[in-house]
Amino acid sequence: MKKTALITGILGQDGPYLAKLLLEKDYKVYGMTRRYSLPNFGNVEYLGIHHDIDYVDGDMTDESSLMNIIKSVRPDEVYNLAAQSFVKASFEQPKFTTDVNALGVLYLLNAIKYFSPTSRFYQASTSEMFGLANDGGYQDENTNFHPRSPYGVSKVYAYWMTVNYRESYNMFTANGILFNHESPIRGIQFVTRKITDGVAKIKLGLATELRLGNMEAKRDWGFAGDYVEAMWLMLQTDKPDDYVVATGETHSVQEFVEAAFAAADIPDWKKYITIDPRFKRPAEVPHLCGRVDKATKQLGWKPKVSFAELVKMMVEADIKRYEMASVSRQS
Ligand code: NAP
Ligand code: GDD
Repeated sequence: MKKTALITGILGQDGPYLAKLLLEKDYKVYGMTRRYSLPNFGNVEYLGIHHDIDYVDGDMTDESSLMNIIKSVRPDEVYNLAAQSFVKASFEQPKFTTDVNALGVLYLLNAIKYFSPTSRFYQASTSEMFGLANDGGYQDENTNFHPRSPYGVSKVYAYWMTVNYRESYNMFTANGILFNHESPIRGIQFVTRKITDGVAKIKLGLATELRLGNMEAKRDWGFAGDYVEAMWLMLQTDKPDDYVVATGETHSVQEFVEAAFAAADIPDWKKYITIDPRFKRPAEVPHLCGRVDKATKQLGWKPKVSFAELVKMMVEADIKRYEMASVSRQS
């Protein structure tokens, strides 16, 4: 019998990478999508797995839809990746962010409790929960939470609900506290992809400027393709637990910019950058750097792609995308 997995947030960045990994492991993969006006299968198509996924309709804000899905699929494993995941938007839409990221997780945990209590549950928790807190420049499983955005606060609620359902009902639930992870299919609003897309346009003469906010912020950036393996490993253990997933290396936004221009072989990056206050946040998370010892020791997980390789991979993919679009316009 094939193992079955349900992935919420299947059409985002992590969903397709995780689905690809599970399909390679011979899982039957169900992907939950919400109602859309226009289909948006770009990321699953990019990874060549669109036709291998069984799509089911549901929305994190609609408890009955989650109950129906869990009742009919009864998956062995549930990976909850769905979220309003853009931190800046959470300041403008705090209630919507809370409905999806906090209450949505409660609905999903309840659906599993009532209709499929042996399903193993993964919650996409985040380094944003640490916010201002760090222990000597690092964050790990023992660092306190001090979230700095409605997004971070909503994820703290979901984190503790995931722990609480494990402790109260003996359910197999695990939090992956993932630090920033990126890829060629990262959403275009997030700073890394905004930079690599902008650099690609500048390289090909399609733009002359890139507008950014706070260039001082530091992030621990890894590759999404590596991080989904840690998600899977967390659901294969004898005992559920919570794990930090990170590279242990931190870089400023400015360092990412410098590396991206260098990867495209464009000298003098400064002349293309304009600081625009519209891209700054009411409260910022200044410094994230994860200590990944627990996941390495207990799960045997380590990141494979380096910072320099990640930046290069993303810049090259964006340049290729624009070149192919130009070829298809000409033909
Ligand atoms: P993403 O690209 O923003 O994808 C999020 C997905 O959630 C999208 O497919 C979106 O659907 C779906 N979604 C949003 N609202 C929904 C709703 N009400 N009902 C059902 N689905 C809904 O995010 P990601 O980068 O893949 O991240 C995956 C998860 O990991 C998120 O929970 C995020 O908060 C968390 N996380 C991410 C990182 C990171 O660096 N990437 C780090 C730590 C934690 P549409 O396609 O229809 O918009
Ligand atoms: N998006 C964006 N756009 N960010 C900018 C810009 C800009 O023009 N200029 C500077 N930044 C800074 C932000 O202020 C932030 O400090 C940093 O770049 C990273 O921003 P994002 O790429 O939007 O990611 P994030 O760190 O806020 O959140 C991401 O990582 C979290 C894990 O730590 C998201 O993927 C979250 O969903 C995830 O939980």
